[in-house]
Amino acid sequence: MLVLGLESSCDETAVALVNDAGEVRANLVLSQLAEHRPYGGVVPEIAARSHLDHLDGLIVKALQEAGVGFDDLDGVAATLGPGLIGGVLVAAMTGKAIAAARALPFVAVNHLEGHALTARLTDGLDFPYLLLLVSGGHCQLLAVEGVGCYRRYGGTIDDAVGEAFDKTAKLLALDYPGGPAVERAAQEGDPERFVLPRPLKGRPDCDFSFSGLKTAVRQQAERLGDLSPRDRADLAASFQASVADVLVDRSRNALARFRRDTGQPGPLVVAGGVAANRNLRQALAALTEAEGTVLVAPPPKLCTDNAAMIAWAGLERLRLGQSDPLNARARPRWPLEELRTPESELEARS
Ligand code: KG4
Ligand code: ZN
Repeated sequence: MLVLGLESSCDETAVALVNDAGEVRANLVLSQLAEHRPYGGVVPEIAARSHLDHLDGLIVKALQEAGVGFDDLDGVAATLGPGLIGGVLVAAMTGKAIAAARALPFVAVNHLEGHALTARLTDGLDFPYLLLLVSGGHCQLLAVEGVGCYRRYGGTIDDAVGEAFDKTAKLLALDYPGGPAVERAAQEGDPERFVLPRPLKGRPDCDFSFSGLKTAVRQQAERLGDLSPRDRADLAASFQASVADVLVDRSRNALARFRRDTGQPGPLVVAGGVAANRNLRQALAALTEAEGTVLVAPPPKLCTDNAAMIAWAGLERLRLGQSDPLNARARPRWPLEELRTPESELEARS
């Protein structure tokens, strides 16, 4: 079974081909970084137009790379949300058009489910597992019990963690996108020079908060005035240490709850763009070791946005006999817990 995956929900135009042996036959990601850099963030209109300009060509290239044609496909999967709706529509309409023209089953994939199931593609993981999803738009802890079955343990009450990285980078006048820039700067820095807050640390739940941390970085930067390279490195390192500390603390609570719910100590899977952060991976690996389980972290290329995860999520659904009608709606907001809610009910609510 070979599935074409399409992704255009944020600032990456991505196309992939994945088969049911878990082979990624093509995985193309076209980043729009250069187009958004002058604005210091993703401009939705620019993103949508760029997806439109590039998606078709990328599909042709992916098919060529894998040495297959449309006739070899067994299904088409496209991200239908959540995300920037103008962009989401590009992959959604393209995917539906291919499915209609070739009479192929179509799968409307939730982008978060793509991240959630990646560890099954890369590491062949069985259900259940605990997932820490950390990206530019999301920060949550979930028990992944099956395809479409997610139990939310906690989430952010304000900013997503990737957003905090991006804003911190901006405050420190570092490069865009912020996450990798903060990580690079932090390599040279002293994580103990500045004592930054650890929001919600020690509380018994699994929620997150990052707005106070961001404010603390800003206040510290203002106190210092003109930032030297040393100041920047130390602030970046202190920020990164605080984030890792908080994510470990919240994940520890979630692991305890997961053990109560499932009788299993783990594993803990970390996914989403921030999962590319090495400091965070090390901290989480230490946590899982202490808790008697393991950390599963997909390679960074499959942690940041890509279409292999979308093709794989589509494949998982097709294998279960699931597919979606061609009038499936694109959704700017689409919590994972709603995956089991029938379309008709969602329509009645909106
Ligand atoms: O999953 P992703 O590619 O897109 C979303 O769905 O949001 O995540 C992007 C986020 C950005 O906020 C980016 O700054 C962050 O992931 N990120 C990182 C690193 N690489 C990307 N954050 C910390 N350290 C990194 N190495
Ligand atoms: Zn993502």
